[in-house]
Amino acid sequence: MAKINCGVIGIGNCFAGLYQGLEYYKRNPGRKIVGLMHENMGGYSLQDVEFTSAFDVGKNKIGKSLDQAIMQPPNMVDWVKNMPPSKVVVKESPVLDGVGIYVQNKIDPVKNRDIAILRKEVLAEIASTKTKVLVNYLPVGSQKAVEWWAEIALESGCAFVNNMPVFIASRPEWEAKFRKANLPILGDDTKGMIGATIVHRTLARLCDERGAEIDSTYQINVGGNTDFLNMKEQERLESKKISKTESVQSQLSKRLPDDKIYIGPSDFIPFLRNTKLAFIRVEGKMWADIPFNFELRLDVDDKANSAGIVIDAIRAAQIALDRKVGGAVEGASAYLMKHPPKQFTDPEARKAFDDFIAGKRER
Ligand SMILES: NC(=O)c1ccc[n+]([C@@H]2O[C@H](COP(=O)([O-])OP(=O)(O)OC[C@H]3O[C@@H](n4cnc5c(N)ncnc54)[C@H](O)[C@@H]3O)[C@@H](O)[C@H]2O)c1
Repeated sequence: MAKINCGVIGIGNCFAGLYQGLEYYKRNPGRKIVGLMHENMGGYSLQDVEFTSAFDVGKNKIGKSLDQAIMQPPNMVDWVKNMPPSKVVVKESPVLDGVGIYVQNKIDPVKNRDIAILRKEVLAEIASTKTKVLVNYLPVGSQKAVEWWAEIALESGCAFVNNMPVFIASRPEWEAKFRKANLPILGDDTKGMIGATIVHRTLARLCDERGAEIDSTYQINVGGNTDFLNMKEQERLESKKISKTESVQSQLSKRLPDDKIYIGPSDFIPFLRNTKLAFIRVEGKMWADIPFNFELRLDVDDKANSAGIVIDAIRAAQIALDRKVGGAVEGASAYLMKHPPKQFTDPEARKAFDDFIAGKRER
């Protein structure tokens, strides 16, 4: 199979984890690949995913080769030492609304040149590197920057994998643009492998299916990286809360009233670094209205949690490109993302995703 040529937007912790993980498996060829659902997907293996272009705004990342850029602060993933030199040099992206007030002194963004010039340069970079899939890892709240990049995908003929909660795949007007351009879009907002969302929605569904009634539920998340620091800014947070809350609500036969469900990133605790802690509580009743409750604490490396999911999303995007299927790749988006265009239960989503891989389902 041909390689999958990807461009990455936002060389932060998520990408650093994905990229180092690729090298980790390359160095250990006999090792079972854990943290990945499909070793082979439509003929594409892990090692077929290549990064051919990269874009960021950090002064300490722009102009560096990809192997160097992923190690720059405030990134803190350092699982693999002595990464091999990469020929890909990080290029300047427009800052727009990408950098929030809490993280600006950590990211130290470049003062952009004229945006029309940047646009030309970005399009030229995508074309000359034969990039075909754009992988979006911009910070939460980057509405304008994400829309700018979605337009770039459309103009440059790239598929778009939207790993964060600015709604593109799940907004009909954007989905229609990708469908019209016959380009695949996957999104929105990666659902971690064993993350708070998949655990919470699975348990909520379990209660629902077994006849228990949930009265109220919360999910509190804390972490210590720039993603969590950025999300201290309440105005940037709205779409993340919607994405996470709707992902759980969608699994219940009857929606909980808004004041009976609280789900969101809740604080930044610097020494946790990339560890994410989630505290989940469900309260309800069963036979004869007798109450029950349970609590769960999840302790995960947030970046190890997302990489394998994104690798599958990238390969789904390439398969759709190969088959000339444009618009939302619905099954994969429902299984891999928190806020897809169409929500399914997870077993239904998994089947739709696998049927898509097998060519039994168009999207
Ligand atoms: N498990 C997970 O970690 C997970 C799950 C779902 C979604 N996400 C989302 O993925 C995104 C990336 O997470 P992260 O931990 O890598 O964040 P991060 O803060 O480590 O990285 C963000 C990167 O984007 C860059 N950036 C900021 N503005 C930019 C612009 N305009 N153009 C180009 N680059 C710009 C920053 O310099 C930084 O390198 C976040 O939105 C996060 O919420 C993460």
